[in-house]
Amino acid sequence: MSSKDLEQLFRETAARLSSVACPFLEARLLIQSAGRMNEAGFFNRLSEPVSRQLENRLVRLVRQRKNGWPIAYLLGWREFWGLPFRVNRSVLIPRPETELVVEKALSLPLPPEPVILDMGTGSGNLAVSLGKELPSARIIATDLSGRALKLACENARLNRVTNVSFVLSDMFKAFRQSNLAFDLIVSNPPYVAENDWQKLDRPVKDFEPRKALVAGSDGLGFIKKLVRQAGHFLKPGGFLVIEIGAGQAEQVRHLFGVDWHQPEILLDYSGRPRVVFARKASD
Ligand SMILES: C[S@@+](CC[C@H](N)C(=O)[O-])C[C@H]1O[C@@H](n2cnc3c(N)ncnc32)[C@H](O)[C@@H]1O
Repeated sequence: MSSKDLEQLFRETAARLSSVACPFLEARLLIQSAGRMNEAGFFNRLSEPVSRQLENRLVRLVRQRKNGWPIAYLLGWREFWGLPFRVNRSVLIPRPETELVVEKALSLPLPPEPVILDMGTGSGNLAVSLGKELPSARIIATDLSGRALKLACENARLNRVTNVSFVLSDMFKAFRQSNLAFDLIVSNPPYVAENDWQKLDRPVKDFEPRKALVAGSDGLGFIKKLVRQAGHFLKPGGFLVIEIGAGQAEQVRHLFGVDWHQPEILLDYSGRPRVVFARKASD
């Protein structure tokens, strides 16, 4: 046992994390992770002495955090749509603005048992959130990365979501021979231009998977393919909801041809164009 109690360790840890935005919150979360305890356990044990094991684990975590590691990778999870998602360096850390894709999807006039595709599922945040909200839906989540799919599958189990299945695929390749037709396709695709990669914040470019973010010289490589091929896999009147990068709205709007109704651009809570929504024309 160490000579200090948990409260003292908490104060010292917050002081060592003074360079992060919320040092007290992060200190508590890292201590909970190092001590394998939940929030209630943390507050109940504030006056108890700390084990050496906890302190040693915490020293490592705080060092990593100070070296720029995103807190979500250190904790191994991130909340999205009010649900816990395991994360590791094979997947992008789910972002709050991506919840706009879920919000839009849930506002659509879908049939009672919709068939939905999540293209580039990563941690499975979109597919699992939709699976939870729409228990009668059949959802297919795809990714090019086997490691991402493994984690997405774990996240479905963690959240007791049973209506999502996972398919390893380079975009639509795995579905070419099938007669699957979707009511809705959602995607938070890679949309960063090659040259902008270096300009990203350090924690993003140093720790998050490049393949999950970068899409060709203009950042539109994935989105162009998605829009071009989605029409073939959507039912007449089916919907496409895609997250886009800042400044891409007009270029993306022009990708939709006569087979589509006029696309809409949705703003995020900071007023930036964030999601494009389009409906395939009915036959
Ligand atoms: C921006 S991340 C989004 C992950 C997750 N949906 C989210 O919102 O956090 C894009 C995902 O697309 C996947 N991806 C990249 N290229 C792909 C391709 N050609 N086919 C399928 N998935 C791809 C990446 O592996 C990554 O998981």
